[in-house]
Amino acid sequence: MAEKKKTGKIPEIKVSAKKKIVFLGSEAAPFIATGGLADVLGSLPKSIAKNKNYDVSVILPLYSAISTEFKSQFKFLTNFNVAVGWRWQYAGVFFMEHEGVKFYFIDNEYYFKREGNIYGFYDDGERFAFFSRAALDTIARLNIYPDVLHCNDWQTAASVIFLKGMYYGDEKFKRIKTIFTIHNIEYQGIFPMDTFESLFGFSSSLKNFVEFDGNVNLMKGAIEMTDIVSTVSPTYAEEIKNAYYAHGLQDIIKRNAWKLVGILNGIDTDYYNPETDKYLFKNYSAKDLSGKAVCKEELQKLLGLPVKPETPIIAVISRLVSHKGLDLVRSTIESVLAEDVQIVILGKGEIGYENFFNHIAYTYKGKCATIIAYNQDLSRKIYSGADLFLMPSKSEPCGLSQMIASRYGTVPIVRETGGLNDSIKAYDGKSGNGFTFKDYNAHDMLYVINEAIRTYHDKDKWKDVQGRALNTDFSWGASAKEYDKIYSDK
Ligand code: GLC
Repeated sequence: MAEKKKTGKIPEIKVSAKKKIVFLGSEAAPFIATGGLADVLGSLPKSIAKNKNYDVSVILPLYSAISTEFKSQFKFLTNFNVAVGWRWQYAGVFFMEHEGVKFYFIDNEYYFKREGNIYGFYDDGERFAFFSRAALDTIARLNIYPDVLHCNDWQTAASVIFLKGMYYGDEKFKRIKTIFTIHNIEYQGIFPMDTFESLFGFSSSLKNFVEFDGNVNLMKGAIEMTDIVSTVSPTYAEEIKNAYYAHGLQDIIKRNAWKLVGILNGIDTDYYNPETDKYLFKNYSAKDLSGKAVCKEELQKLLGLPVKPETPIIAVISRLVSHKGLDLVRSTIESVLAEDVQIVILGKGEIGYENFFNHIAYTYKGKCATIIAYNQDLSRKIYSGADLFLMPSKSEPCGLSQMIASRYGTVPIVRETGGLNDSIKAYDGKSGNGFTFKDYNAHDMLYVINEAIRTYHDKDKWKDVQGRALNTDFSWGASAKEYDKIYSDK
């Protein structure tokens, strides 16, 4: 990392007369990634920045887990102290420009130098209260006041609350429009009420906004106070008005529905590109899929599965948690394995699922392989080598894996929920780019899996549906235009 210098003068960052967007989030590829949020914050800002009318920045925590390859390129800009409740904590600011986007990193080793994961610590509330406030103070300190502050998920919800509730006395903050994007309403940032002042330092007038069910609820506060709420697919925007999907916030969502929009995420189609992907055994394109056959053969060898080009491989790449619909997989996997198929499972999560899928792989050696890991390299080898991609989520705000699978010619089987519903349409011989079922029901899922297997063996139909999956446009193009619209609306 560039050395910290204590200088009086802050190096100047060139800011143009363009419309300025600052994104806040807790992770962004390629710097730090644990889930879909990182993909979005790694690709949406880049895509917005392609529009030359925009000046785009992202502010992130400086986790120790960020690789030294990047850290060595960071430039130290400034440091100051940030109020965390009644205390003051050090914040350093580092900078790097990457693919047309300005990235600022907030340094505080006490909060962000941690072993293992980037979340899941007893003091996550405090860590992100610090980050949310430090981000606003960075904006003031560096004089990079944006036109739009685009906050993402509970970790940056407090920024909206601070800005709208405590910084609005400052004209420059007052004119900032805020967008709060819900990537997953399950994680709301809920903390005991006694943290309201001591830890977050919220002023008492904000209680009505922030309190929910006797707790501090950061996501609720941000939804109430932001100018625009967005979520990552149109279907999810509707679903979260219902208790089944809203994890308690349905009434808050309904009350704020007038400022709610659902915009489907895209993926970085340059990054996820079978023609250039370095992780693949062999590259291929939508026009010439011969390399995909090699990917399949090598994957089978790698995972100790018999090399059988005519046997469909069904892949699951997922966090092994219940909302991913794994109970349906658990209750039907043996029926599926009774067919001539191979199943590959890659993921990590709840111990119950890990044990179950390990056990199945052991019992069905040569038909099923389970790898308990989060592994980028292997995931690409599976996306490219498999034939079908199973994603039967109970709820799915957007979901990116079904788009990535499609891009590699691996046809998705999904439940019609959230972004899965908006991105994958049932194949009927004339249209559609995958296989879908509606109700959260194991038999319905089994039925479409069998239909997908039958289609796989019908060469013409398979070519047709696979081609439709490969040719669906999952780039950010259309969605970036929709963001452009909400950034520009006054
Ligand atoms: C969360 C959601 C997922 C979405 C991603 C990016 O991880 O669970 O559905 O694709 O955020 O928005």
